[in-house]
Amino acid sequence: MRVKALQGVGAEVAEIDLNQLSGPEQVDIRAAFAEYGLLFFRDQDIDEQGHLRFSRLWGDINVNRFFGAHPDYPEIAVVAKEPEQTGNIGGAWHTDHSYDKHPALGSILVARQLPPLGGDTWFSSMYKAYEGLSTGLQEFLGSLRAVHSAKHVFGTQQPKRVDETVEARFHSQAAADALEDPVHPVVITHPLSGRKALYVNRAFTRRFEGWTEAESAPLLEMLYAAAIQEAYITHFHWLPGSVVFWDNRATWHFAQNDYQGHRRIMHRTTIEGGPLQGSGLVS
Ligand code: SIN
Repeated sequence: MRVKALQGVGAEVAEIDLNQLSGPEQVDIRAAFAEYGLLFFRDQDIDEQGHLRFSRLWGDINVNRFFGAHPDYPEIAVVAKEPEQTGNIGGAWHTDHSYDKHPALGSILVARQLPPLGGDTWFSSMYKAYEGLSTGLQEFLGSLRAVHSAKHVFGTQQPKRVDETVEARFHSQAAADALEDPVHPVVITHPLSGRKALYVNRAFTRRFEGWTEAESAPLLEMLYAAAIQEAYITHFHWLPGSVVFWDNRATWHFAQNDYQGHRRIMHRTTIEGGPLQGSGLVS
């Protein structure tokens, strides 16, 4: 197994077959995942069962409440965009499942059908986003917690979508409405690396705890802009056989929607995480 760090975020892992991982290779992948927070694999011949087997190495699978499930493997969420659809899933910077009380450890996305051009996924490092802030702001953010929610995206209050096919994925609106909005530290100490990471995102963070949405918006907007500097970002171009394993506590991602008229089908599993620890800067 060979691991090559990339410029923005993540690492490419080569000379490995995800269907047949030896014990030492699993240990090496775990270590690389803790170090880089984002692993890219190429040329994998992995079917649905292999996808599930690889996913279960890292924890239990969280069955997505909102995306269409694979008809034969319900633990696999189907992230699909059909040729006639205009909207896509994941077409804004976000991290998966921050609306859960115990946010997901990571997600594993496998390319199944790709457009002839485009459809890349961009990733950004939340370690770098945090480390790029001034020490004064870091310290202040260490005292804050933020409220996250799925209701405005998946619940009954979500804006009406004109795109019927995309709308069809909101099949569990009641599930979103029933979720309790969790509160997470704005700066977390990552459970695997011990490094501090920024933990807010535009899709699911609503406001700072004890602040209104209007009061929170300017600071959140400033953080969102600071988190997507070119030096923190890797653009990943999918090819048949590509698999990506990202850490939802250490990265954001953004699915590009630039292949109108073509189909793109991806299979995603999401791995359960645990409680998040704050930065420890403030008691
Ligand atoms: C997602 O946000 O999970 C989907 C990413 C992608 O389709 O590239």
